[in-house]
Amino acid sequence: MSIRFENVRKAFGSKVVLEDVGFEVGSGECFFIIGASGVGKSVLIKHLIGLLRPDGGSIYLDGEEVSRLTEKEFFSVRKKCAMVFQNSTLFDSMTCAENVALPLRKHKRLGAKAALKEALERLDTVHMREFANAYPPELGDGMQKRVAIARALTLDPRYVLFDEPTTSLDPVSARRVDQMIRELCDEVGVTSIVVSHDLRSIFGIADRICMLYKGHVRMLGTPEDFQTTDDPVVQQFINGRAEGPMEV
Ligand SMILES: Nc1ncnc2c1ncn2[C@@H]1O[C@H](COP(=O)(O)OP(=O)(O)O)[C@@H](O)[C@H]1O
Ligand SMILES: [Mg+2]
Repeated sequence: MSIRFENVRKAFGSKVVLEDVGFEVGSGECFFIIGASGVGKSVLIKHLIGLLRPDGGSIYLDGEEVSRLTEKEFFSVRKKCAMVFQNSTLFDSMTCAENVALPLRKHKRLGAKAALKEALERLDTVHMREFANAYPPELGDGMQKRVAIARALTLDPRYVLFDEPTTSLDPVSARRVDQMIRELCDEVGVTSIVVSHDLRSIFGIADRICMLYKGHVRMLGTPEDFQTTDDPVVQQFINGRAEGPMEV
C-alpha cells in the first residue's frame, strides 16, 4: 500500500470536518474520494502535501509518516506527489509553454531553452502543443485544465492528486480529462487520488471509491460495490436524488 490515512482528525475551531478517517490506496490505483460539497474532500487531500496538518492520526506515503514532517522536509514529498488544484492556477501573464517550463527551471534547474523544449514535449502529451504560445485566458476551461495537468506532471510524480478535475468542464472536455487520468495510471503507473462528484468520471474510471460522510468513511469499495449497496445514503448520493436520508 502506498498511501495510508489512519484515524485522521481535523477541525477548524469548533467545526470538526474529519472526525476519524482511515483508508489505504494501492500502488497504481485510480482512487476516488466522493461526498457532498463541504464534507472535507479538499481538506483531506491537502494533508498529503502538507498544506494542512491533522489534529490527530497519521498519514503515510511510501511508509513514511508525512504528517510528522517539517515544512522543509515536505519539499521532497511535493516532488513525488503533485496536486492539480480545482481552479487551474496557471499564470495568466505567461504562455502555456512558459507555465509548464516554470517548474522545470525552478526544480529541475534546466536552462530557459531546455525547459521550453521539454515543456513543448509535455504539452504534446496532453494534446496541447499547438496552443503552446497561447495565454491561459484565451483558452477554455478544459484546455486550461490539460495544461495544468501537464505542469503538474513535469517532475514525474508517482502520485497525483486531482481536486474536482472535471467540475465546470463541458462533457467532452470532461471525458478527455478522465481519459488522461486513466492513462496515467495504466501507462505511466501513477497512483491517483481524484476528488469528484462527477458520476460519469466515478463510474467510468475509478478502481475504488471512498465516500466521506459526516467526518467518517461511509463506504469504501469498487464502483460495482457502490452500485449494488443497499446503504440508503450512498444510494441517494450516487443516484443524485433530492429525497432521502442524506444530511448536507
Ligand atoms: N482553511 C480553512 N479554515 C477554516 N475552515 C476550512 C478551511 N478549509 C476548509 N474549511 C472548511 O472545511 C469544510 C470542508 O471543506 P472542503 O474540504 O473544502 O469541502 P469539499 O468536500 O467540498 O472539498 C468546509 O466547511 C470548509 O468551510
Ligand atoms: Mg473541494
